[in-house]
Amino acid sequence: MQTKTLILAALAAVAHARFGQEGLVQAAVQALSDFGAPGAAGTLAGQTPGVLLAGANACAKLSLADDIVTQLGDDAAVLAAAAQLVAAEKNFNPSAQSIPTLCSDASLPATEALRGIVPLVDPAVVGSDVQNTNSAASLKAAFAANGDSVADVSTAQGFSNFTAQANA
Ligand SMILES: *[C@@H]1O[C@H](CO)[C@@H](O)[C@H](O)[C@H]1NC(C)=O
Repeated sequence: MQTKTLILAALAAVAHARFGQEGLVQAAVQALSDFGAPGAAGTLAGQTPGVLLAGANACAKLSLADDIVTQLGDDAAVLAAAAQLVAAEKNFNPSAQSIPTLCSDASLPATEALRGIVPLVDPAVVGSDVQNTNSAASLKAAFAANGDSVADVSTAQGFSNFTAQANA
């Protein structure tokens, strides 16, 4: 009984930690209220959960990251929050899909400082260990994007267990 309770508690903690990152991205963008027009950071922050939904197009969060920089400017704090969005894991519904979707649009994100960053993927996916290590590394030092899409950069860095998705 006790073991079962502990396992459930541990699973809940893991799930919470993973899905907490949506909230972290939203809070990071919300915190940029000193930048851009009054209310702009709040509006952009409010748009972050939608682009991280399982059903969202994989390119939508890259466009939103560009919008964040376009509207709030390219201060290091703005770029850091936008980079967090690029690197964030899009929600994943294992009963509806077995592998994640990554954006194959080479023009996104358009912001040079956001290129070469690859996203986290669900840890249940085969190969996710490589991708999740790469994602953390790319936030510290972006990979060379050389005009490639996020999907292509991910493949070049050793993770290919995903469905490439064009911008909708
Ligand atoms: C991709 O990941 C899925 C889900 O974890 C797994 O079933 C499948 O074997 C993996 N495919 C490859 C080519 O690694």
